[in-house]
Amino acid sequence: MHMALKNKITLVTGVSSGIGREIAQLLAERGARVFGTVRDPKSAKPIHGVEIVRMDVTDDASVSDAIEAILPKAGPVQVLVNNAGYAVTGALEETSIEEARQQFETNFFGVLRVTNAILPGMRKQGFGRIVNISSVLGFLPAPYCGIYAASKHAVEGYTETLDHEVRRFGVRALLVEPAYTRTKLNGNTKTPKTNIAAYAEERKRVTEMAQQNIERGDDPRMVADAAYEALTAKSPKLRYPVGKGVALSRMRRFVPAGMFDKSFRKQFQLD
Ligand SMILES: NC(=O)c1ccc[n+]([C@@H]2O[C@H](COP(=O)([O-])OP(=O)(O)OC[C@H]3O[C@@H](n4cnc5c(N)ncnc54)[C@H](OP(=O)(O)O)[C@@H]3O)[C@@H](O)[C@H]2O)c1
Repeated sequence: MHMALKNKITLVTGVSSGIGREIAQLLAERGARVFGTVRDPKSAKPIHGVEIVRMDVTDDASVSDAIEAILPKAGPVQVLVNNAGYAVTGALEETSIEEARQQFETNFFGVLRVTNAILPGMRKQGFGRIVNISSVLGFLPAPYCGIYAASKHAVEGYTETLDHEVRRFGVRALLVEPAYTRTKLNGNTKTPKTNIAAYAEERKRVTEMAQQNIERGDDPRMVADAAYEALTAKSPKLRYPVGKGVALSRMRRFVPAGMFDKSFRKQFQLD
């Protein structure tokens, strides 16, 4: 059984490219009233049926301004997709506290900030659906992308608890877990200022492999379909892995830890 999204007031963060853009487009096609956020509206390409709003998820004032701008036009947001995010690559030891903090500021605190701004309206209405775009790196380790993986693990832990706290208000909080997906993520990836020679060779090999996998990755439409399912299912699941994420999620749960460790290291050709 599915709920209709028709005319539901929907906010999707990070619609300038990739997964967010695809989700905003799909939800608008299916009849939702969609507001999509970008940091720079001047350079944003329009999406048919989507109203563009300026928002930087790392900035309290920018988040509250965006939500206050939507309120008189459409009323409180009923459906939220926290999608905005980027990746920082590099060995964990190479990543400074400041670089790690910035990663969490967008990928984790961004989700918390936007959600906290939307929740009072959802509680008042007694209805809300929140989908957080996590990653398979929300439940797997990620050599040379470890702070990103930590930020997505944080999103997973946060969302699971949130779903328990807000369910009595008619609100559900759910996770969509894409695997490698063809988007601009590579182009927007940041790298630490510090390079440690001891990691150089393996870092290069592993990050190049990941970049190629993104170029050959799933169509972002698959992630949008999973988000749609999470947003409309009458009795939703907590986690919606996408594409190869489905097998990875099962493996993580059912393969014994020792066996998983061995095959993981082999897959990434770790010395
Ligand atoms: N591609 C993959 O393989 C993959 C796999 C698993 C999960 N994901 C997740 O999917 C989500 C979308 O990424 P994508 O792959 O579609 O990459 P993308 O094409 O680079 O899109 C990222 C979006 O996030 C926005 N953004 C970044 N920092 C922001 C901030 N501080 N405030 C507001 N918006 C911000 C960007 O908007 P601006 O125009 O403002 O820069 C852009 O619209 C991310 O959470 C990512 O971690 C991606």
